[in-house]
Amino acid sequence: MAETILVTGGCGFIGTNFVRHMLGKYDYHIINLDKLTYAGNLENLQDITGDDRYTFVKGDIADTADLERVFERTIDVIVNFAAESHVDRSIIDPDAFIKTNINGTFNLLEMARKKKVRRFVQISTDEVYGSLGATGAFREDTPLAPNSPYSASKTSADILAIAYFKTYGMPVLVTRCSNNYGPYQFPEKLIPLMITNALAGMELPVYGDGLNVRDWIHVIDHCAAIDLVLHRGEDGNVYNIGAGKEKTNIDIVRLVLEILGRPESLIRYVKDRPGHDRRYAIDSGKITKNLGFRPSVDFAEGMRQTVQWYVENKGWWERIKTGAYLDYYEKMYGNR
Ligand code: NAD
Ligand code: TYD
Repeated sequence: MAETILVTGGCGFIGTNFVRHMLGKYDYHIINLDKLTYAGNLENLQDITGDDRYTFVKGDIADTADLERVFERTIDVIVNFAAESHVDRSIIDPDAFIKTNINGTFNLLEMARKKKVRRFVQISTDEVYGSLGATGAFREDTPLAPNSPYSASKTSADILAIAYFKTYGMPVLVTRCSNNYGPYQFPEKLIPLMITNALAGMELPVYGDGLNVRDWIHVIDHCAAIDLVLHRGEDGNVYNIGAGKEKTNIDIVRLVLEILGRPESLIRYVKDRPGHDRRYAIDSGKITKNLGFRPSVDFAEGMRQTVQWYVENKGWWERIKTGAYLDYYEKMYGNR
């Protein structure tokens, strides 16, 4: 019988792409456990709801009763994407970040320990390393120094997961990826916000001087890297994931405008984010050397395709921007 993988947060940006990647390539049974927060969009996987290798369960990783219910079935592997993921929201209201990212991961680790799951992949982030100066790149042994409530909560989950390997010998692996772009990203993050604002003729808010640097990877390359770690990674190891594409924010914003043929007069410099990390850059030498990872998407081409996806899926992001997508959830799940 095919193994069962529990994917948490499968209705979010990366989870959606990962579920599609896995069903496209393997015969696993995938259970997608998602709380459907504002960032979880059931529409993303609507077309595969009829696939008998796929099961959606609405539930909260921070709620042990929800987990007990899911674990009535045999789960072989867990890939934990579920998280509150937006730095700006964590600055305004960190509460949910602590509950989901820390307590939720703890609950999942405990459940995995009790049920002796075969593999647990914790999806962490390069933001656990903090901020870089003008040179250098994060390595797996770079000291952890998170600065935002988001990155601090992700760091807690990350090192807790490693502690379960060290203490209980649990088969845990951790991935720390750089900034993702691609289809299905919620339009609060830099790239989809800029694309959708430009399409709507709205201003493009650039924080501070626009010279903060992020290291970009296409989401399908991130998914391929997780697939490698899941199948070939070594227990107890951390793997950095990146594609070596450092860009300043203003360069990203200008590129979006150029692809769309919209004027740079839409750019508006706004007050900086508090504690704004200046630069991220990831050294992914370990996953390249040990697991043979090679990103496949060319950055310029990936950006063009991503912009095109938002152009072609206007209804998807318009329903998000107007909040109409939430009515859909309400209709589906309001009385459950
Ligand atoms: P996202 O915000 O798009 O999706 C998060 C998903 O988790 C949503 O579907 C949401 O409904 C679900 N969720 C939230 N709280 C939950 C809970 N308590 N129980 C069950 N489900 C819950 O996030 P994303 O960008 O897809 O990120 C996925 C993971 O990858 C996160 O762990 C994030 O920290 C990590 N990550 C993201 C990036 C990036 O660039 N987006 C980079 C590196 C790592
Ligand atoms: P974001 O997409 O929120 O990802 P993260 O903060 O997790 O890296 O932001 C990426 C960069 O873009 C970050 O330096 C903040 C900046 N930014 C803006 O300048 N304007 C915006 O409206 C947003 C959302 C982000």
